[in-house]
Amino acid sequence: MLYAVIMAGGSGTRFWPASRTLRPKQLLALSGQRTMIQSTSDRLAGLVPPERQLIVTNKVLVDPIAEQLPSHPAENLIGEPAKRDTAPCIGLAAALIAHQDPDAIMAVMPSDHVIGTDEQFCSAISAAEQLVIEDPERIVTFGIKPTYPAESFGYIQRGPAIESGESASGIKAYQVDQFREKPNRETATQYLQSGDFYWNSGIFLWRASVILDAIKANQPTMYSHIQNIADAIGSPDYDAVLEKEFCAIEGTSIDYAVMESYSNVAVIEAPFQWDDVGSWQSLGRLHEADADGNTVVGDHLGIDTTGSILFGESGHTIVTIGVEDLIVVQTKDATLVAPKSAEERVREAVKRLKESG
Ligand code: GDD
Ligand code: MG
Repeated sequence: MLYAVIMAGGSGTRFWPASRTLRPKQLLALSGQRTMIQSTSDRLAGLVPPERQLIVTNKVLVDPIAEQLPSHPAENLIGEPAKRDTAPCIGLAAALIAHQDPDAIMAVMPSDHVIGTDEQFCSAISAAEQLVIEDPERIVTFGIKPTYPAESFGYIQRGPAIESGESASGIKAYQVDQFREKPNRETATQYLQSGDFYWNSGIFLWRASVILDAIKANQPTMYSHIQNIADAIGSPDYDAVLEKEFCAIEGTSIDYAVMESYSNVAVIEAPFQWDDVGSWQSLGRLHEADADGNTVVGDHLGIDTTGSILFGESGHTIVTIGVEDLIVVQTKDATLVAPKSAEERVREAVKRLKESG
């Protein structure tokens, strides 16, 4: 049976002031009417019903997420007692799923990407499921053709093509020669030039038992904490055990914890559009610009305004006169004004605000 795990514990500070501790990027509607986590769940509808979708997030986000996903059973919203990155999140989800169904296959995905179309996405997931049915120990990744030497992504080196029962669907799958998480610019440039690397989309598909074994092999201490949590499933002590054992885990991402060393990995060349919507400027890729090259979400009057990102909550008009390449974000209680060139420094602002309480 196929399950889906939506990872939703990130903080998305680069989208401040729209994103906040209790309303991070995945809970925002950046590309349309639905929020990113709603779109992520909707996208799976044809393959995995809400009953088999697990949302794993920080415990403080469980209630805001439940409001956005009313069809999901409450027990499918898993609250982590601490932020420990994606490997413990995936280990916990795999343990919960394997407890219900030892043979389960699970697709794991971020909650904060823009992907299209839903049909293309589901056909790629089905092809991946087929690859795991053909070879149960296999881990499947989804590769995106890189367009610049990004340092913020993992890279997947493609090896020989895999002939699969799914080949007829036109989806291309390859053995993976190498997985490398977030290389520096120089290495990323070499990868880009070589032509046989993909960006890691951050979406994975594997058997729950196989990822647990891989965590056990690579991160035995992390595994033992997860095992202690799994042993408490169904007992009255479960919440206390989860709190204690999860907090004791040293945080790391699945990319470093498992992907860089696992040998039986396949990559499917993603047959869908993919955008990780990393920062305010990326809104420009999701919305059609106005005649002056501005990206506008909300009400805006621009006079001699060009190349800017204007984002306002409804009921509030932003007026700009004689500006170019600016980011203006207005929310109920905070406003950001910065040149596009300084957008990386939004994180610095969030840090300073947190320090000053
Ligand atoms: N539950 C939970 N707990 N979720 C988390 C946590 C956590 O502690 N930390 C992050 N997440 C969620 C985020 O909300 C996001 O949806 C997803 O897990 C991935 O985390 P990111 O922090 O956004 O990872 P990244 O962007 O630096 O890198 C990953 O994604 C890239 C593609 O966007 C890696 O997999 C890269 O290899 C990949 O290229
Ligand atoms: Mg990310």
